[in-house]
Amino acid sequence: MKKTPKRILVTAALPYANGPIHLGHLAGAYLPADIYVRYQRLQHRDVLFICGSDEHGVAITIAAEKQGVTPQSIVDKFHAMNAETFAAFGVAFDNYSRTSLPIHHETSKEFFLDLYEKKILKEKEEQQLYCEVNRMFLADRYVEGTCPVCKYESARGDQCENCGTWLNATELINPKCKLCGTTPVVRTTKHFYLPLGDFQKQLEKYVHSHVEWKDNVLKYCEGWFKEGLQDRAVTRDLSWGVPVPLKEFSDKVIYVWFDAVLGYISSTKEWAQRIGSPDKWKEYWQDESTRYIAFIGKDNVVFHCIVFPAMLIAKGGYIVPDNVPANEFLNLEGGKFSKSRNNAIYVKDVLKTFEPDFLRYTLAMNLPETHDTDFYWKDFQAKVNGELADIFGNFVNRTLAFAVKNFGGKVPVRGALTPRDEEILALMGKTPEVVGNLYEKFKFRDGTFEVMSLARAANKYFNDSEPWKTLKSNPEQCATTLHICVQIVRTLAILFAPVLPFSTERIWKMLRIGTPLSEEHWNDAGAAKLAAGHQFGAAEILFKKIEDTAIETELGKLGEPSETAAGNTAESAKEKLPPIKPTISFDEFQKIDLRIGKIIACEPVPKSKKLLKLQVELGAERRQIVAGIAEHRSPEELIGKSIVVVANLATAKLMGIESQGMLLAANGGGDSFALLTVSNDIEPGSWVK
Ligand code: 2FM
Ligand code: ZN
Repeated sequence: MKKTPKRILVTAALPYANGPIHLGHLAGAYLPADIYVRYQRLQHRDVLFICGSDEHGVAITIAAEKQGVTPQSIVDKFHAMNAETFAAFGVAFDNYSRTSLPIHHETSKEFFLDLYEKKILKEKEEQQLYCEVNRMFLADRYVEGTCPVCKYESARGDQCENCGTWLNATELINPKCKLCGTTPVVRTTKHFYLPLGDFQKQLEKYVHSHVEWKDNVLKYCEGWFKEGLQDRAVTRDLSWGVPVPLKEFSDKVIYVWFDAVLGYISSTKEWAQRIGSPDKWKEYWQDESTRYIAFIGKDNVVFHCIVFPAMLIAKGGYIVPDNVPANEFLNLEGGKFSKSRNNAIYVKDVLKTFEPDFLRYTLAMNLPETHDTDFYWKDFQAKVNGELADIFGNFVNRTLAFAVKNFGGKVPVRGALTPRDEEILALMGKTPEVVGNLYEKFKFRDGTFEVMSLARAANKYFNDSEPWKTLKSNPEQCATTLHICVQIVRTLAILFAPVLPFSTERIWKMLRIGTPLSEEHWNDAGAAKLAAGHQFGAAEILFKKIEDTAIETELGKLGEPSETAAGNTAESAKEKLPPIKPTISFDEFQKIDLRIGKIIACEPVPKSKKLLKLQVELGAERRQIVAGIAEHRSPEELIGKSIVVVANLATAKLMGIESQGMLLAANGGGDSFALLTVSNDIEPGSWVK
């Protein structure tokens, strides 16, 4: 581990944009990464959290073929859905990009070309599986067969899902084409290979220098080293992906795993451009004083501990992951998550009924950090009702309600301390360090448990102190008890903030502390910081208990197809909107000349249902504009209106009529429509900037 890193770069595996995020995804990488980042932010460290959609590869094209649509429409749909789900679940990425963006294609091509020019990539003719029915090479998931290692019968051409072995399709026993089920033949094709063997010594040195890595990760790496690292093809005979930037190979694409890991870099570049410091990404990737942590699920270990570091070393000038905290799998009600068998719970669906913090807490307490774990709906209910509501929520509520009722909602004055007071204050004082140390070691389950233990101890302290009795018998002691309890409410709000960001914000509002929760310091969480006399607000119920019927409804949905999985996002017109287009520079934006135009005449275009022909006054000149708005506005409604016009758009002909500009209108999804109009106070021809 780097001793005093200047900054921390955190990435979480880029999920494929071919389906919705499910609980297994969250437990594998995204929740631990988010807890870690939120904790580091409370330590006031410079931390950048990067992710995005993995939009290439056969996972996407197979999904598109199944649904009879284009790969682009699949990735557009699921990128938007997953970005929204992550936000709703509270995953606080600094940037969530997508690998279909030009910035990513350029980054991937640059890496590929650099390795090609340095003659690191080997060009080889090799035998690969070819389907004579579909007339194509069967890359990756286009072929399935029996895993030569564990004998799992549905191993994919690139990897066995069961044992994690990274395979060459030709190694599969009894391979079958995924599209037609026939047995493929072996044919020769040319590809580029990354000679991992050439990097084995360096990689072994790198991995062995990290004895602090998780056992499971080190074991996987050791297994591959022992076998000896092989050349791996980094190109594919496919049309969806980043084209190989060499003329002779322009019909091939770069292997999805070669480009996906580079997605972390391109997403960081996109972030840097967005914040107006286009070179800042280099600090995170090229400065040795950055500590890079890559959160992933166990099936991604080889790519992050072997392939990606080899690529970064080969390119030169880049840092490599300092830790790769890979989680095992989260199973569902005793079985494996399986999209095809509808044995999956999608986060988007859960959040329709339950608070994000319910899910965050139950998953945090059940993270598959050292072994596979199971998600059970009954356990979810038990944890929410018995721990969040009965312990944490109850403590916050009873403390604040008692203080509001008996001390006017002010922090009472602290008097002499009893041994019981001393004991709870000591626990409160040391918990931030205990939890912080666990989080630094990526032990989020234990860390969360410790915070809940403080809440549990605080509840016991409240009970044992019997403030409802001392209120009359010993008011000073009662005030001291409540003084301490309110301090612990503050401590818990800070310590629970990484796991329960939404509920702790609510506590913060109840406490009416001037500084935003996000600006508090983790290391000050255990101090009694609230001054006697500080006025706080009314106590609200934090966690509403889950009824049995709600859980029964969820159990009844298991095994049923989900609309979300089909990508049906049409609950609201808003969700039909296309994703935000790729970033452009200010200079590019400046090229668009927007002017105010006044509509002085308007008539329908004969034989067209949609088009209207407008005469628009644009200051010194007049323009004829043909616009497809006849279904939304009548000519009478438009005459006299001041609108926004793109004044420097090349002229176009619509049904034979010249259009010398374009007007701006908004579409909120579906049929919704609004013309962008401005008040007539502004002169035609005025510049919109
Ligand atoms: O396993 C997956 O879902 C991959 N899309 C993960 C990619 S991680 C990184 F390479 F971007
Ligand atoms: Zn296997």
